[in-house]
Amino acid sequence: MQDTHSLRQELLESIGTAADLEALEQLRVTTLGRRGRITDLMRQLGTLSPELRRSRGQDLNRLKTDVEAALEERRQAMANSALESRLLEEQVDITLPARPERRGMVHPISQTIDALTALFCEMGFTVVEGPHIETDYYNFTALNIPPEHPARQEQDTFYLPADPTGTPRVLRTHTSPVQVRVMERTTPPIRIIVPGRTFRSDHDATHSPMFHQVEGLVIDRSTHMGHLKGCLIDFCRAFFGVDDLPVRFRPSYFPFTEPSAEVDIGCTRAGGELRIGPGDDWLEILGSGMVHPRVLANCGIDPDIYQGFAFGMGIERIAMLKYGIPDLRAFYDCDLRWLRHYGFLPLRIPAIPGGIDR
Ligand code: PHE
Repeated sequence: MQDTHSLRQELLESIGTAADLEALEQLRVTTLGRRGRITDLMRQLGTLSPELRRSRGQDLNRLKTDVEAALEERRQAMANSALESRLLEEQVDITLPARPERRGMVHPISQTIDALTALFCEMGFTVVEGPHIETDYYNFTALNIPPEHPARQEQDTFYLPADPTGTPRVLRTHTSPVQVRVMERTTPPIRIIVPGRTFRSDHDATHSPMFHQVEGLVIDRSTHMGHLKGCLIDFCRAFFGVDDLPVRFRPSYFPFTEPSAEVDIGCTRAGGELRIGPGDDWLEILGSGMVHPRVLANCGIDPDIYQGFAFGMGIERIAMLKYGIPDLRAFYDCDLRWLRHYGFLPLRIPAIPGGIDR
């Protein structure tokens, strides 16, 4: 009967010198497989006397466990070195210059968000985000839009099933619910902008079911309509890069602001081409107003001490006007030819020095 000591030496050596994973597997089959050498030896145990069988059985079991462990260890080592050599082989030199034909472009929506963020942050605003899935309370009720209010119908809301506690939910129809979330958790002064996605069940050449808005909110003890006007006039002129851009405030209505104003910027269509600047025509670009005292109270802010203004505008709309993009739907077509035409080089990050419009 073969001595397990020399068999162990032989097997461990073969495992140590196996050339590859396949050779290793072959070894496993010929030792531990159904007809393997260790398996065979174990099968012969039955022919031995009880005492011999006991000690030989223990020997063989130990051998089997050790061989299995050695096989596994070697398999791991081989797998690791295979990965390492692959990593070495597939190394990418990130210091190489970008290949111009493969260069990615920044989408105009991202560029516009970067541009308006740079402008408002320069004025002392900070950026806040909020959830796309909102409760009915934050999207409507807290903003002074009670359940039977006609504004609910106007917004073409996407309703979602209630959450497990029975709270009605919607896809937010505007960024205004984030105002409420911020006011609930902040003691004024507040000066924030909220860029982000919004959703309405509406789809045609000028409407998309998913679009972007930016919300603004300023609350302090003595914030007044003059601040609203100054802030938005400065923004419009800087954003469109027209120093003498006419800006007009038109009385309007929103349930969450009182008084409310829509903001128009001057333009001309002379020569059949739309140009933003002094002219004989107007383009509506945003909604604004003084935050309604009831909204402040809903959010735990005392309207006898604090007041402020809010505004909201469509990002697609101001992007189309600024960059001369004619069709809204193309924003979401993911057509690379369109992106190469209207997109921005990644390093053209909007910043105030040198003008936002570089
Ligand atoms: N939430 C309004 C809309 O979606 C815009 C707005 C925001 C108006 C803040 C006034 C104040 O149309």
